Amino acid sequence: MDTQLNYNYKVVKQFAIATVVWGVVGMLVGVFIAAQLAWPALNFDIAWLSYGRLRPLHTNAVIFAFGGCALFATSYYVVQRTSQVRLFSDGLAAFTFWGWQLVIVAAAITLPMGYTQGKEYAELEWPIDLLIAVVWVSYAVVFFGTLWKRKVPHIYVANWFFGGFILAVALLHIVNSMAMPASMTKSYSAYSGVQDAMIQWWYGHNAVGFFLTAGFLGMMYYFIPKQAEKPVYSYRLSIVHFWALIFTYMWAGPHHLHYTALPDWAQSVGMVFSLILLAPSWGGMINGMMTLSGAWHKLRDDPILKFLIVSLSFYGMATFEGPMMSIKTVNALSHYTDWTVGHVHAGALGWVGFITMGSIYYLLPRLAGKQQMWSKRLIELHFWVATIGIVLYIASMWIAGVMQGLMWRAVNSDGTLTYSFVESVKATYPYYVIRLAGGLLYLSGMVLMAVNTVMTLRGSLPANTRIPALAPAASAHATAAAHV
Ligand code: HEM
Ligand code: HEM
Repeated sequence: MDTQLNYNYKVVKQFAIATVVWGVVGMLVGVFIAAQLAWPALNFDIAWLSYGRLRPLHTNAVIFAFGGCALFATSYYVVQRTSQVRLFSDGLAAFTFWGWQLVIVAAAITLPMGYTQGKEYAELEWPIDLLIAVVWVSYAVVFFGTLWKRKVPHIYVANWFFGGFILAVALLHIVNSMAMPASMTKSYSAYSGVQDAMIQWWYGHNAVGFFLTAGFLGMMYYFIPKQAEKPVYSYRLSIVHFWALIFTYMWAGPHHLHYTALPDWAQSVGMVFSLILLAPSWGGMINGMMTLSGAWHKLRDDPILKFLIVSLSFYGMATFEGPMMSIKTVNALSHYTDWTVGHVHAGALGWVGFITMGSIYYLLPRLAGKQQMWSKRLIELHFWVATIGIVLYIASMWIAGVMQGLMWRAVNSDGTLTYSFVESVKATYPYYVIRLAGGLLYLSGMVLMAVNTVMTLRGSLPANTRIPALAPAASAHATAAAHV
């Protein structure tokens, strides 16, 4: 019973390709700003190459372009296969693709020009915000419309995570972007002072919780069981995981505002909920890992599974570290330092990046009507190059961060500061160079993925792995076997 021909794979394929393209672009900008931190002269005194403008370009490109396109691709694929129906509307799905690309291009033009609302991860000015809202509502219609007309009674757990992510992001984006336009390129937030800060970090933290976590957990619950050919370890745990995670994340935002004008009790609420968050996060991670029980040997020679499972170990690492950093006394050391940047990239490179890469590697051959990616060895090489890159990145930032925190708080017996600020900057220099090396490795891995993608889509299998001509029916069968 093959329904492949009835599915809309075109939009999935477009988003999958866009993921790879924006991944290379976003990480290239990341590498460039990492180099600027080591050698500031690299801004060449050109305003639109300055660090302050390229940094938000990097964050927007990797989160919303690379991560966003991956979320669109996988959610559209998963909701169709697990509901066994075609997407609700082809026209609206195509609109979400072109609309989202327009948002990305608009961001890539306006951010280097210096147009910004100055809110982290919500920098884009109001006309782009409106476009995002329209695209996002269309996305919700396509996704929930597809679920509505599903042919199976059950809603598979991955769809709960994708659905939660879509609804929460709509809410967060619309509330946090409320602003009064002053011109086409300038607006003022509807909130002010500490309320503005609180709304912003309610948004910011839930951007992590829903954009960078819940949606990617949707990927985990579909692609790990598929690639491991094992059912989810505990379906019951997955449901508890979902409700516990979405309930807890919503309250943790104030941990970004410790020791600020935010009332102390609100900071404590944020800290307590962040500590509680360890439980659902690890519950989910364990559920994903244990899905492999009885099939651990597959890790030995399946590089796609390596990406998927190692992503979970980084998820576990980041969600252990996060609650620790939310403890006020720990945050007093870590805040403003590169420790935060190390934490971010343990989550971003290890969790978000790896689960995306594993899922897209799973998807691409199926979308191209092939049995496998062009080169398995290249996937393996990508995995190792990227893993070494992450280790260099996060280890250097951890050391730099703790060092900075300790240097800033060191006092002499007469109460004066032991180190001037610039001494801490100087001491950080070698770590910035090591981070750059890690970033370069991670980017090289992404370039290998791009090469593999082009070759897979072209259909030129390397001679040693050439398989006998695949009858269309057989290839359709291979895909049909991928039903959950
Ligand atoms: C080649 C890979 C990458 C490199 C070299 C890189 C480099 C950088 C650098 C230099 C910064 C600025 C840090 C600072 O201001 O001190 C940064 C910030 C950031 N990057 Fe990346 N990045 C990479 C990949 C990614 C990916 C894949 C993601 C997300 C999926 C990501 C998410 C972020 C975020 C959220 C921030 C802001 C962190 C904060 O405000 O604390 N990065 N990155
Ligand atoms: C239980 C889960 C987590 C908790 C409790 C948590 C907690 C924290 C804390 C306390 C900070 C530092 C705030 C500050 O001092 O300014 C932080 C920063 C951050 N975390 Fe996490 N974290 C968690 C998981 C993750 C994951 C999985 C990711 C990425 C995929 C992530 C991405 C970020 C980002 C992007 C920032 C920087 C925000 C900024 O200042 O721009 N976190 N997190």
